[in-house]
Amino acid sequence: MKDINDLTEEEAAQELEYLAKEMAKSDDAYYQNDAPYLSDAEYDRLKQRNLAIEARFPKLIRQDSPSRRVGATVKSGFSKVTHRFPMLSLGDVFSIKEVEDFILSVKRFLNTSEDIDFMSEPKIDGLSFSARYENGRFVQAATRGDGTTGEDITENLKTIKQLPLEIKNAPQILEIRGEVYMSKADFFALNEKNALEGKKIFANPRNAAAGSLRQLDPKITAQRKLSIFAYTWGEVSERLWNSQQEFFNYLQNWGFPTNPNNTLCHNVSDIEKSFQHLMEIRSSLPYDIDGVVYKVNSIALQERLGFLTRTPRWAIAHKFPAEQALTKINNIRIQVGRTGALTPVADLEPINVGGVIVSHATLHNEDEIKRKDIRIGDTVIIQRAGDVIPQVVEVIKEKRPSDSVEFKFPTTCPICGSHAIREEDEAVRRCTGGLSCPAQAVESIIHFVSKDAFDIAGLGEKIVEDFYHEGILKNPADIFTIQQRNIGGDDLFSSQQGIHLERKEGWGKKSVENLFNAINSKRTISLPRFIYALGIRQVGSATALLIAKNYGSFNHFMHDMINKETAKLISIDGIGAAMATDMVEFFQEEHNIRIINQLLQQIKVEDFVDTADYNSPLSGKTVVFTGTLEKMTRSEAKAKAQSLGAKVAGSVSKNTDFVIQGADAGSKATKATELGVKVLNEAEFMELISQ
Ligand code: IVH
Repeated sequence: MKDINDLTEEEAAQELEYLAKEMAKSDDAYYQNDAPYLSDAEYDRLKQRNLAIEARFPKLIRQDSPSRRVGATVKSGFSKVTHRFPMLSLGDVFSIKEVEDFILSVKRFLNTSEDIDFMSEPKIDGLSFSARYENGRFVQAATRGDGTTGEDITENLKTIKQLPLEIKNAPQILEIRGEVYMSKADFFALNEKNALEGKKIFANPRNAAAGSLRQLDPKITAQRKLSIFAYTWGEVSERLWNSQQEFFNYLQNWGFPTNPNNTLCHNVSDIEKSFQHLMEIRSSLPYDIDGVVYKVNSIALQERLGFLTRTPRWAIAHKFPAEQALTKINNIRIQVGRTGALTPVADLEPINVGGVIVSHATLHNEDEIKRKDIRIGDTVIIQRAGDVIPQVVEVIKEKRPSDSVEFKFPTTCPICGSHAIREEDEAVRRCTGGLSCPAQAVESIIHFVSKDAFDIAGLGEKIVEDFYHEGILKNPADIFTIQQRNIGGDDLFSSQQGIHLERKEGWGKKSVENLFNAINSKRTISLPRFIYALGIRQVGSATALLIAKNYGSFNHFMHDMINKETAKLISIDGIGAAMATDMVEFFQEEHNIRIINQLLQQIKVEDFVDTADYNSPLSGKTVVFTGTLEKMTRSEAKAKAQSLGAKVAGSVSKNTDFVIQGADAGSKATKATELGVKVLNEAEFMELISQ
């Protein structure tokens, strides 16, 4: 691309026209269809180039220039809301040098050489909302839209439980503004579900949040898990606060979620530290952030500073370097999962994306490959958001080799060769080999011994695979007969037929003994774990727990399933007809019944008794675990806390009652201290649960 200083006026005009069109197309794709047309990094690059060309040729600034647009025009179908106070945007900077320049410009404007306090706030990567309260009652909500007019999302926003509908001691008119977002975990779960159902795959949590919020039917919004953070205000009849920090106190008292990482900074060094800190914890936060916002803390100073055309002079967004990168697809592989689902995975030319080396990306399913026309040999933009599995955002078609061919999704299982079929209403193609397919058999054993199932630590994935291929483990029931079948002893020359674990490379007497102990300690298992371990399609831990609570015993459940009696099952809140069908089908398979019967001869499945102790000190409390515990595993501690009536959460917020801190605790413990949440060490926790 040509250096801006070398552009002729004519070339500049042409390029500005091109940029206006490209970015309008991208805005439309993003705001109207909630799907990106340009990657974030590419969009930012075009935006910066547009600004730079305009700075050199101010008289060429177009009516439709992207620099004059705040956001998007309103999607049809929603009624419009005109913001009484426009919802503005923020200027972007990308380096600490530019942040320093910004601070200098603020000081120059105010004609002061003294340090000014700034609030540093994570820039939440969601979409902004404005919620209006009249006499303390929520009356209306809108999206930002083009900054002047947004969409009426009153009913949609109401479905988000974190939004208070009534607030006490509020000014008569109060507009609270903030960000609606989807947590990484909820984004994952939604895409996984959509992939199975052949529905839209969202490129990132922000698009998923936008797609979920801007649903004409608020019932759909309600099914999606959306969250909010509040951070600013629009119209207010009486401004009770004098600083951004005080405003956050009001927000908290009114019951709005505010970000626990908002911090007051007194000088550039504080600001730099807060930026570094947020960069460091970025990938471990449960939601995406794309930068840090710095706001002059004092409202009096904010008012003196005022606004430029579309952005305040008192705030700026310091964006993180994009976690996107360009790389090549070396191969497309098909993985076969426990339920036979064929999942395409791209093997990439390894590349550093935001500090992490990425060599694989998920391609979700057959349709996704077709939709994006992804081929072996393509150069692609990949994206990594926190700990989310990297994804292919787009193919750079111009870089496609001339001999490239469309990727043909296999119709047979790449592992066992059985037909792989795709049911009419499903997006997923599945191997029909069942447990005769080695991939499915191995995956089902791995699932059986996994953490939330039998939790047999000695049986790692590699060992299960080896044992399977050596004929030691063909199915889960074999696990409990290994010891019986093992010929044992150190006699390396015994010619007896059978398993000789001690003779295996890398195995000694001690490790074999450890394995047997690990297996034997799991001969009694709780009902929910057992149901989950079976690996029935669609039955995760939460569903298994629901079944256990409602049936009480395994026999009762199995009896109903074998006899195809689903009435009780479907009456359970959270279990639908499709799930019930999968469960019944599982129990119609003779092979499954045979293995269950073999298992029941070896192990004891406990009946389920709802033991939650509602009088315990943990009853009704929200607890968060961090770091490594010594006396018990994290899962065990969680289960114990739950049995005492506690809710176990993944991240610390002001609603957390206790943080239980093990060794090497990270940011959660720091956050807890910042929020004044009670932190217990392992000994204190043990004492609490023994009461
Ligand atoms: S303040 C006039 N604070 O970033 C200032 N915005 O580029 C209005 N955002 O539209 C915004 N986190 O969608 C503000 N802590 C935060 C934010 C934040 C995310 C988003 C918001 C806004 C965009 C500005």
